[in-house]
Amino acid sequence: SWTMLNIVEDSVEAVRRQVGDGRAICALSGGVDSAVAAAIVQRAIGERLTCVFVDHGLLRKGEAEQVERDFVAVTGVKLRVVDASERFLKALEGVTDPEEKRKIIGREFIRVFEDEQRAIMADGPVEFLVQGTLYPDVVESGGGTGTANIKSHHNVGGLPEDLQFKLVEPLRALFKDEVRRAGEELGLPAAMVWRQPFPGPGLGIRIVGEVTRDRLAILREADAIAREELSRAGLDRQIWQCPVVLLADVRSVGVQGDGRTYGHPVVLRPVTSEDAMTADWSRVPYDVLSRISTRITNEVREINRVVLDVTSKPPGTIEWE
Ligand code: XMP
Repeated sequence: SWTMLNIVEDSVEAVRRQVGDGRAICALSGGVDSAVAAAIVQRAIGERLTCVFVDHGLLRKGEAEQVERDFVAVTGVKLRVVDASERFLKALEGVTDPEEKRKIIGREFIRVFEDEQRAIMADGPVEFLVQGTLYPDVVESGGGTGTANIKSHHNVGGLPEDLQFKLVEPLRALFKDEVRRAGEELGLPAAMVWRQPFPGPGLGIRIVGEVTRDRLAILREADAIAREELSRAGLDRQIWQCPVVLLADVRSVGVQGDGRTYGHPVVLRPVTSEDAMTADWSRVPYDVLSRISTRITNEVREINRVVLDVTSKPPGTIEWE
């Protein structure tokens, strides 16, 4: 619509005024906010923006490609991709405590990003850091009086405010739905624009137990099947998100063909919600659940049981860790 066009053009203009001849960097997470923010800044200052995408190895199937290939093709953004999965896995070795996992992932992310930052600054100074802050984030942090910190949230689009940078926040006046429309206006891939929420620490907090490369591969397959079937059933807009959780230290006995199996369960956690503060478990039709269960147990050898989480929030949280 013409109003969306104006919003995009106005923010491009505002970024141009703010940044002048300066340079900027931006961390991409695969999510819509950092992508739209980066696309707007790219339109404003072109090559003087460098984006950094840290692949921590905890992403879902196809997500890295979406950023590296599709997003770059559409926007022409100058991008540095860092495959840091080895480093993250090493740091996570032997760690099972959820908060510890979150802290390690957050810390490693900042370290990798700082290394990249130094490399980029070797070509000249960078004054600006782009962030995908939305209007509700602004309100929340401004009026936040003693909100309970239940989990240490880590947002790979949202680095701690580093005093050496001036912040560029082209989405500061927008709500989520406006950001999505701006993303469409900018021609971003639909899978990115309409992506459901996904936590910064990624699959690392959806493996109950130690995070390993093998376990990630198993969960990635199961998660891809669940997402595919939910989309095929047309449920993407009804469901807020559906974490798939691997209970990596649990085994149960099963039977397949003539053989006994001793595999792991995955939990499906489909929820409906308005804002993630509260949530209810989604009444996903039985035939859809059945297809997901059949496909996962047939196609992912290590998984022999699929269970459904029917807990609301509170008392459960959406994620298991
Ligand atoms: P919980 O599990 O607290 O999750 O009910 C509420 C919403 O927040 C998402 N989530 C995160 N998002 N970084 C994020 O960017 C995080 O560390 C993180 N932890 C949880 C979760 O997916 C749900 O949408």
